[in-house]
Amino acid sequence: MGKEYNVAVMPGDGTGPEVVAEGLKVLDAAAGVLGFTLRYTHYDIGGERYKKTGEILPDSVLNELRQFKAIFLGAIGHPDVKPGILEKGILLRTRFELDQYINLRPVKLYEGVDTPLKNKGPKEIDFVVVRENTEGLYAGAGGCLKKGTKDEVAIQESINTRKGVERCLRYAFEYTKKRNKDNKLTLCGKTNVLTFAFDLWERAFHEIATEYPGIKTDYAHVDATCMWMVKNPEWFDVIVTDNMFGDIITDLGAMIQGGMGIACGGNINPEGTSMFEPIGGSAPKYTGKNVINPLAAITAGAMLLDCLGESKAAQMIEAAVQKAIKKNFKSMDAGKMGMGTSDVGDLIARYVMAG
Ligand code: IPM
Ligand code: MN
Repeated sequence: MGKEYNVAVMPGDGTGPEVVAEGLKVLDAAAGVLGFTLRYTHYDIGGERYKKTGEILPDSVLNELRQFKAIFLGAIGHPDVKPGILEKGILLRTRFELDQYINLRPVKLYEGVDTPLKNKGPKEIDFVVVRENTEGLYAGAGGCLKKGTKDEVAIQESINTRKGVERCLRYAFEYTKKRNKDNKLTLCGKTNVLTFAFDLWERAFHEIATEYPGIKTDYAHVDATCMWMVKNPEWFDVIVTDNMFGDIITDLGAMIQGGMGIACGGNINPEGTSMFEPIGGSAPKYTGKNVINPLAAITAGAMLLDCLGESKAAQMIEAAVQKAIKKNFKSMDAGKMGMGTSDVGDLIARYVMAG
């Protein structure tokens, strides 16, 4: 009998449930072909539950999530809920509590997808961002004084621990080695201004680099990184950076790879529970219309399978996505794909089954 895997599913808000449904369709197709089984446990975490019960992410659910190696997440964010409550209470809390210290975001332009960059194609746009996912400005350190008065003070500090920085850098070096593309790792920082935080990053980076003689190292300030991502994206193989900079440059990355419809990511704890997601958000205006592009969820599903050790299945999904983009897609944008959300899932599942 084939292997069995338990996967937690959090479809979430807005178009999350629609794209997750297509992702699961494709995962099951791959599992069927390769003879393994995926058992899903659904959790109704999100804006609707919060509105009904006031619960955001109960501890009991969080503790159940710890039992899984992988979580498949749709999207978090509800138009009736004040921004920040669900994002912090669900997404960030899961990242922190499950110690998902890596946010892995491939920036890959598939053949046939339009990029806004002139004269750049799939050969030039193919790199991966390793974003630290539990520290930095996201750690929540700081506070305010005299709020609402003219003497108000607000402080938000970036926390960078040697341990947190080092495990992120080590992951990035290992990842660059395993990827074996250009064997080049670029540290993205701001050593000219953030002279405490990025001094620590830079020293740790060079120290660890001595253990990886086969990996070329490079450094770019975050502002310059934005410039090079547009002008010469082919310079990048793997970029490692802190939480805030990683957040910003991966939105730019998503745009040059064809938009939010195709960008996926993984929140990874290599020793624990990882969580995979399309990074586009809940897109409330498209909810229930069968127009949203589920490819980001489908490729997030491929990353999830990779994490479970089913890399062959992940590759099959990637290949099927590539084929569908070349043959069937009119556009990556919601409503302009030339087919509905569920048709995309059916199509990719069919391509996976056809091998
Ligand atoms: C992301 C998102 C989140 C972040 C928000 C929703 C809290 O933008 O996953 O990149 O800032 O990390
Ligand atoms: Mn973001």
